[in-house]
Amino acid sequence: MHQHFSFPLDRDSEEPLYRQLIRQIKLQIESGQLPAGTRLPASRELAEHINISRISVVNAYAELRAEGYLSAHAGRGTFVSREGGNHHLGNHQSQPRHHAHNNHLSTQEMEQQPDYSLRDIMRLARRTGIINFSHGSPPPDFYPMNQLRDAINTILDRDGAQALGYEQAEGYPPLRASVRDYVSGLGIRCSAENVLITAGAQQATDLVVQSLLQEGDIMVTANPTYLGVLDIAKARRVHVHSIPVDDEGMRLDVLEQYLMEGNKPRMIYIMPTFHNPTSAVMPLHRRRQLLNLANEYHIPVVEDAVYHELRYEGENVPLLKELDETGIVIHISAFSKILLPGLRIGYLIASKHYLERLVRIKYAADISTSGLNQRAMHLLIQRGILTYQLEHNNRELHRRRDTAIRAMQKHFPEGTTWNRPQGGLYVWVKLPKNGPIATELYLASIKKDVSFAIGNVFYTNNAGNYNIRINYGLQRPELIDEGFKRIGQAWRELMGEYNTVEKSPLL
Ligand SMILES: Cc1ncc(COP(=O)(O)O)c(C=O)c1O
Repeated sequence: MHQHFSFPLDRDSEEPLYRQLIRQIKLQIESGQLPAGTRLPASRELAEHINISRISVVNAYAELRAEGYLSAHAGRGTFVSREGGNHHLGNHQSQPRHHAHNNHLSTQEMEQQPDYSLRDIMRLARRTGIINFSHGSPPPDFYPMNQLRDAINTILDRDGAQALGYEQAEGYPPLRASVRDYVSGLGIRCSAENVLITAGAQQATDLVVQSLLQEGDIMVTANPTYLGVLDIAKARRVHVHSIPVDDEGMRLDVLEQYLMEGNKPRMIYIMPTFHNPTSAVMPLHRRRQLLNLANEYHIPVVEDAVYHELRYEGENVPLLKELDETGIVIHISAFSKILLPGLRIGYLIASKHYLERLVRIKYAADISTSGLNQRAMHLLIQRGILTYQLEHNNRELHRRRDTAIRAMQKHFPEGTTWNRPQGGLYVWVKLPKNGPIATELYLASIKKDVSFAIGNVFYTNNAGNYNIRINYGLQRPELIDEGFKRIGQAWRELMGEYNTVEKSPLL
């Protein structure tokens, strides 16, 4: 086959394979990934390639011809006959980088990669006027604009040119001390020497990966997991071994089995509190069990805690770093989700033997995090603005979570299920399996000017077809209700279309 055709099918699904294939082909046509004029493989060839029966492919092609997506030319083959339905949305970026990427990757690597075509599709959410629930950002209406302006003016008056010079690679010393004090309030005992200031939690994670892993090494993550860590793994050419989750986070029985089989991952990346995307919280007993495993097999645990303080309900569960008695945990966090993502101030806390190497890698990466921004963050903490904002933000997030749950009950179709988050920004929703998959619903919702994150992008194995992640925190309550109403409408409209397809004599 000249072109790389990829139609991920879920063989465990109750939905017939031909119908899954219809959806996948439609989706790729609508997103522009299969442009008009593309020649599709012959039915026998495609059936062999994706390992389904030929009759399923024949049925799928027939239906797509009937709907005007494909046309058949005797002796020449089957062609895409219409342009992507979303071109009017201005999604030039959604053209497929897909094939270029895949060419470089081994099969094993491909299995580990998030689906880039889906991520491209998700760029549609950047259009202005969209009720956006798709990004991982905290709500911009929470940003303390005036306090930041005032802090920067104060710093320029107070420190003059010094505020604009190169900073120490480890970080601005007063901020390192403030972080030490701040995390001691969260239960972590450390000295300022254990603190490295980074450009957000993202850079902290990247530095740790560079410091602990070499090309080809393995890191363990949960499945699903934070997309950014998969990006780091790809950029640093390390393998991801993913472990399934349940309501309490990573399944440690599966992890233990993997370790007992003699595998030697170099680190375990984990988000114990308000995991992204599921918002699950790992209970205390499992945290202790994880540390026992890590110590037994000598594997560093990288704790990403960016959502930890966004708790508005339920009991606090101690951080892994608080429970860590041997120094095996590297704690990563940032002020991004709790205050301001754009200042790019994060930190990591690690024992000295890790920290020295990390500082050298940090210096090589960017010399230091902006000294001006570090001073601004330091002043915002000193002036009590962080504490004030956290209280305010959590109160408001609580209100938005309640609105989101009411709106889901009101507008989402019967059979939809979701978690009830006690903090963080996301609800993780499971759509009913008798209806559209998440990507179809996304494309239909975008046409109604509302967006969310498609579940598949968080998985390393194409799972999550029926999951969506909604950042309810991003929108004010009125817009949450309106946005969810449109998502519910989009679902029902798609359902109407399927019922017509079902009755088609071609099938
Ligand atoms: C789990 C997790 N870690 C890290 C980040 C990135 O954080 P930062 O903006 O501090 O780099 C995000 C952002 O979405 C996240 O969800």
